[in-house]
Amino acid sequence: MQINSISTTPYTDQKPGTSGLRKKVTVFQQANYLENFVQSIFNSLSGFQGASLVLGGDGRYFNRQAIQTIIKIATANGFGELIIGQGGLLSTPAASHIIRKNKAFGGIILSASHNPGGPDEDFGIKYNVSNGGPAPEKFTDALYENSTTITEYKLAEIADIDLDKVGQQQVAELKITIIDPVDDYANLMANIFDFDLLKNCISSKYITLCFDAMHAITGPYAIRILEDILGAPKGTVINGIPLEDFGGGHPDPNLAHAKELASTMFGDAPPVFGAASDGDGDRNMIMGANVFVTPSDSLAIMAANASCIPAYAKGIAGVARSMPTSQAVDRVAKKLGIPCFETPTGWKYFGNLLDDGQITLCGEESFGSGSNHVREKDGLWAVLFWLNLIAKKRQSVEDIVIDHWQTYGRDIYCRHDYEAVDMDIANAIVDNLRKQLPSLAGKSFAEYTVKYADEFSYTDPVDDSVSNNQGIRIGFENGSRIIFRLSGTGTVGATLRIYLEKYEADASKHNQDAQEALAYLIELAEQFCEVKKRTGRVEPTVIT
Ligand code: G1P
Ligand code: ZN
Repeated sequence: MQINSISTTPYTDQKPGTSGLRKKVTVFQQANYLENFVQSIFNSLSGFQGASLVLGGDGRYFNRQAIQTIIKIATANGFGELIIGQGGLLSTPAASHIIRKNKAFGGIILSASHNPGGPDEDFGIKYNVSNGGPAPEKFTDALYENSTTITEYKLAEIADIDLDKVGQQQVAELKITIIDPVDDYANLMANIFDFDLLKNCISSKYITLCFDAMHAITGPYAIRILEDILGAPKGTVINGIPLEDFGGGHPDPNLAHAKELASTMFGDAPPVFGAASDGDGDRNMIMGANVFVTPSDSLAIMAANASCIPAYAKGIAGVARSMPTSQAVDRVAKKLGIPCFETPTGWKYFGNLLDDGQITLCGEESFGSGSNHVREKDGLWAVLFWLNLIAKKRQSVEDIVIDHWQTYGRDIYCRHDYEAVDMDIANAIVDNLRKQLPSLAGKSFAEYTVKYADEFSYTDPVDDSVSNNQGIRIGFENGSRIIFRLSGTGTVGATLRIYLEKYEADASKHNQDAQEALAYLIELAEQFCEVKKRTGRVEPTVIT
């Protein structure tokens, strides 16, 4: 096999964000752009000669082309085997599982998650390490350094690989294994949940359901698991065919973007359970008839009821949540007498805690939850978890949520996003917030007295690595919080996220609308950050 060294010059914008490098497709299509990044990944690694690498993506526009390029670069760099999802497809959690199951050296996942796809939309690439999780910050920092000094990349002169035929192909010294993207993942789920119980509840119509795959990667996974294996009627999975542009929509499972599901669940004769997942299958939205479960509540409810699930029947070791996620799960951990960790935003921060056995469940407010079964958040896992809960507890989603609030109180929660804000304005907003922090502690605003006002920094309990500047938090004596962060996954301008949270112990007030209950905190947030004043916007781009 002929291996060519191609000279190149660095791009300066290849710093990975919250979950890998995300840019417009047109940026990735620039000469040597993808090649530079992939070679920089390999330049930051050692010891992979002859080892295996997992490769797959969410099927968005540019997925297939990128995979062919990556195959040629990985081959030239000396990998011995490439394990690739058929059609170049692997959901993010499935990729994590495949890396672990095959004891692969690592994996490359192609996705821009919940961002839109298509020729003028977004693409992304991320490297996962041998535990199946996103590479830690020290690796992505090294990768970025490499990308700024790269002078050449290696390319094997081989023909394009047939990605559609399951089985093994030998290309010179290289083994290429094309796998069914769903098989291993479906088996993993069958080993975690009580599939017999679910089959009974579905066939007896005790559980009726609707799953919105949003024309993204979970279509084939959900059809196989929910319809073929568990016996839900055909049509249970809506928008189940993956499309390169997700049918023109935002494959983001929230009430704003999963409109079809939301109108079914709030419609005339809603099914018992509704859910959606995102572009690459790691996010989830959980709904019941006429109810929406916030991701923060969902995590807390899962933790409180984990013993209902076969894989967690013996109890859970601990839990973790990202800093802006509500404190609902903290109360559960306290009651269970298990540790609860607060980590920076991004799944990579859960990896060490999971590997070390300190936690079993973890989650983020951004529609992500997962467990020690893989090292990514997992949308369908959360769906099956809830189905298993409904089946085992014989309660509706609404009753499960109300019971939970009655026991623990309710953490009323919402997030306001201001997207595509001018970078300079966004940076000025953050600078201005920083300046106010020292003077805020002890100050009172109506019944809210500031307990602490700081910038979150995290020391990993396992390897002692420190991550600074992970969001500005203002905490009040009554447990309420306002948090400000700039997104690390956007591709246009800056996105300012404002997270608002208020604890309500009084059960007679649990039915309140979140925006109304949080109205004063929303006002305070504007007073602190002045996003409306500085941008001229009148409302957030998205409220979740
Ligand atoms: C967002 C979410 C974060 C999640 C990430 C990847 O990152 O807020 O919780 O881990 O997407 O799905 P952000 O854009 O806020 O940096
Ligand atoms: Zn995702």
